[in-house]
Amino acid sequence: MASTWSPQSWQEKPARQMPEYPDKAALDNVLARLKSHPPLVFAGEARNLQAALGQVAEGKAFLLQGGDCAESFAEFHPDNIRDTFRVLLQMAVVLTFAAGVPVVKVGRIAGQFAKPRSDDFETRDGVTLPSYRGDNINGGEFTPEARIPDPQRLLQATAQSAATLNLLRAFAQGGYADLHNVHRWTLGFIADSPASEKYKGLAQRISETLEFMAACGITTESVPQTPATEIYTSHEALLLPYEQAMTRVDSTSGDWYDTSAHMLWIGDRTRQADGAHVEFMRGIKNPIGLKCGPSLDPDDLLRLINILNPQNIPGRLTLIARFGADKIAEKMPALVRAVKREGAKVVWSSDPMHGNTIKLKSGYKTRPVERVLEEVRSFFAIHRAEGTHAGGVHFEMTGQDVTECLGGAQAIKELDLGARYQTACDPRLNASQALELAFLIAEGIRDERMKDAGLAASA
Ligand code: TRP
Ligand code: MN
Repeated sequence: MASTWSPQSWQEKPARQMPEYPDKAALDNVLARLKSHPPLVFAGEARNLQAALGQVAEGKAFLLQGGDCAESFAEFHPDNIRDTFRVLLQMAVVLTFAAGVPVVKVGRIAGQFAKPRSDDFETRDGVTLPSYRGDNINGGEFTPEARIPDPQRLLQATAQSAATLNLLRAFAQGGYADLHNVHRWTLGFIADSPASEKYKGLAQRISETLEFMAACGITTESVPQTPATEIYTSHEALLLPYEQAMTRVDSTSGDWYDTSAHMLWIGDRTRQADGAHVEFMRGIKNPIGLKCGPSLDPDDLLRLINILNPQNIPGRLTLIARFGADKIAEKMPALVRAVKREGAKVVWSSDPMHGNTIKLKSGYKTRPVERVLEEVRSFFAIHRAEGTHAGGVHFEMTGQDVTECLGGAQAIKELDLGARYQTACDPRLNASQALELAFLIAEGIRDERMKDAGLAASA
């Protein structure tokens, strides 16, 4: 395993989930062009994110990672980018207030296209075609032509990622993300929500805090932290030829960085210790994530940690727990203990989405908000019991008013799902479900803090 790494050394290992491009010359041509494409992110930014995640690992900051399951060409629109970012910001303000520590904001955005599939083929009405693997690979339409992997799609996805990131940077730094703005949107949400009574208290305290800050002279004009924030990007490093083409030597440090995003993660289906994805990820210096599902046992996890973070750098590795509300209590504690026993420095984050997907008789894939919340609650409780930090959360959400997940204050029911079921892949929380979850998590974090401080729990 300690053999020399290079951006292409993964090619010597078995690679799962990789599309078969029929036209190899066309693929090579596109990859050659991508090799000279300007990097989407700068290595120094990836180092800043790693340092921020190092703070999360020590319990001095909180990670909020979220965005679409899969970006698509059809949904590429400035309004969609804006709306997703807006929800992420609103969640961040609520969580910052509740946790009393900085929130590190990481989007599943500007590159989150490729999707792992359980089957290589899909059959409908007796017709079998290759599975859809994400808009950067093939088309979702159920026709033989659409399902052929087309390398040109990589260029379109890269252009879309660059434009998305450009707009996010402008929003984050240009005034849109001003703390006062963001809180004003949240007050609007609360006024309109059927559950408004529940969240009024917390929102009111944030309003008072902002007024107090302003009275003390901490305003948009006086303090640069008020009008601006930082947003980082991330996606699953699934399509290795693409990630390889975007991987460059950073001239400042001499290290290899995958410049397609600040943070990359390894999926639950491609985390084999001797596989291609782990091989690729061990060599890039970006902060990385590892999805941990029910089939991961403690020895495998320790082996992976050894390969992926041999120098035990805090912030380098985020373990993203995705067990399901019904399995987390059985599976996660042993992993947490093993990591703690070894003294491995990691961020523990909760993805309460992927273990709670159900398929209804009507054919819809959905996720009950109740189960999502239940998994997050268990995640916090387990870390509390083990004396470790619950470092963050990882969500699939959209700023649009979709009806893909069941429940929430709007009480979306099975029969409502058809109204606005728009996802290209997994069901996402809509804007109000996502913000509600942030409030519920915030209440939990705050109560814990108050208890720790010996104060009464918040009313
Ligand atoms: N700059 C601070 C931060 O990023 C405060 C802040 C400004 C903020 N705008 C924000 C926090 C929007 C969350 C969301 O944490
Ligand atoms: Mn998903």
